[in-house]
Amino acid sequence: MDHFTYVDGAMLVEQVPMAEIAAKVGTPVYIYSTATLTRHVGVFREGLSQLADPLIAFAVKANPNAAVLATLGRLGLGADVVSAGELLRAIAAGIPANRIVFSGVGKTADEMRIALEQGIYQFNLESEPEAEMLSEVALSMGRRAPVAYRINPDVDAGTHAKISTGKSENKFGIPYDRALASYAAARDLPGLDVQGVAVHIGSQLTDLKPLEAAFVKVGALIEKLREAGHDIRTADLGGGLGVPYDPSQPLPPSPADYGAMVTRITQGWNVRLLFEPGRLIVGNAGVLLSQVVRVKQGAQAPFVIVDAAMNDLLRPSLYDAWHDIRAVQPKGDRAAANVVGPVCETGDTFAMHRDMDVVGAGDLVAFMTAGAYGATMASTYNSRALTPEVLVSGDKWAVVRARPPIETLIQGDNIPDWVQD
Ligand code: LLP
Repeated sequence: MDHFTYVDGAMLVEQVPMAEIAAKVGTPVYIYSTATLTRHVGVFREGLSQLADPLIAFAVKANPNAAVLATLGRLGLGADVVSAGELLRAIAAGIPANRIVFSGVGKTADEMRIALEQGIYQFNLESEPEAEMLSEVALSMGRRAPVAYRINPDVDAGTHAKISTGKSENKFGIPYDRALASYAAARDLPGLDVQGVAVHIGSQLTDLKPLEAAFVKVGALIEKLREAGHDIRTADLGGGLGVPYDPSQPLPPSPADYGAMVTRITQGWNVRLLFEPGRLIVGNAGVLLSQVVRVKQGAQAPFVIVDAAMNDLLRPSLYDAWHDIRAVQPKGDRAAANVVGPVCETGDTFAMHRDMDVVGAGDLVAFMTAGAYGATMASTYNSRALTPEVLVSGDKWAVVRARPPIETLIQGDNIPDWVQD
């Protein structure tokens, strides 16, 4: 459920008319709802209510806006980060280091040092060479790094290939069958304190079965690791739970169903459980608001050309992702249309033959469920400025990232003297 609703024929975000934000900030613009963020945190936490002291570490990659992170931090969430940039952003937004987990296959020695200085809760290691590097970095600082190994359970998550991470051919984690050997080697590294096991098999999962299969493997491994003398105290079950994008499709499993499954599978593990939800927390808490530039006739359906493009919201062109597109002030009629952006690529297409509200030049449209992997994946392709972001709470709203002047794009480059001579 979200807080984007129609009142008197116009879409509001909480109590603020979308049209008011468009008039003041311009379009395209991302808009986030605090009430929806808060609700999603509550629902996820409620789903996990049978577990003792879980750590919910928001996957910062889904939405790294400082105001969003600060909102989630105040609600008690930690952060799952994959770079020094995300780590420092999370800390700057007030998320304490002891609630931060560091994932990713390519952590550099510099990033490890920064994370150790900050005193993060756990590093999720993804290879033996990475374990060796972290041990060396920690020793050079007189520290021991708290670590888990992310295992690759070789489970098919049943989601888009580009967001599947738990198959043996994917780059993520250590092979399940090598796990005991990898843990044994890690124990001999003096700069590491081996405390846990981690797993994450993919994103936008709409079925609990692959998650359950992965968690069962984690449980079996914890048992074997303890038999081998490892003191396993944490298990990080990753993120991945899907959210509804298309109202005509069956709903994905609810956080309550997920929590019940986790509670059942992890009974007796005797560890602190960690979770890394991203999309579930922010996906439906954000929309991309855009204006129709013009409508042009097409061979089959009209092309609705909007002022947002693939550089603002990459998901449709990268993953063929489906986002609901709604008129902010629907006129009542619906018809098939192709919704495209102005970028010079055929892939700059948000929807083809979509049955949707009829819109014309100047009308506002909202791309729904754009709070996760939206602004964060934006680029300046076609020399388009990055999209601004707005956070709403009740009847209040604020620009939480301003639209940069186009000059910053031009001034960012340097023309060396020898080019001008
Ligand atoms: N933990 C790890 C280690 C991850 O790699 C990810 C996402 C998450 C947690 C959060 O997963 P979530 O709960 O959001 O599903 N750009 C793609 C999604 C990429 C997901 C990458 N990893 C998209 O727009 O669909």
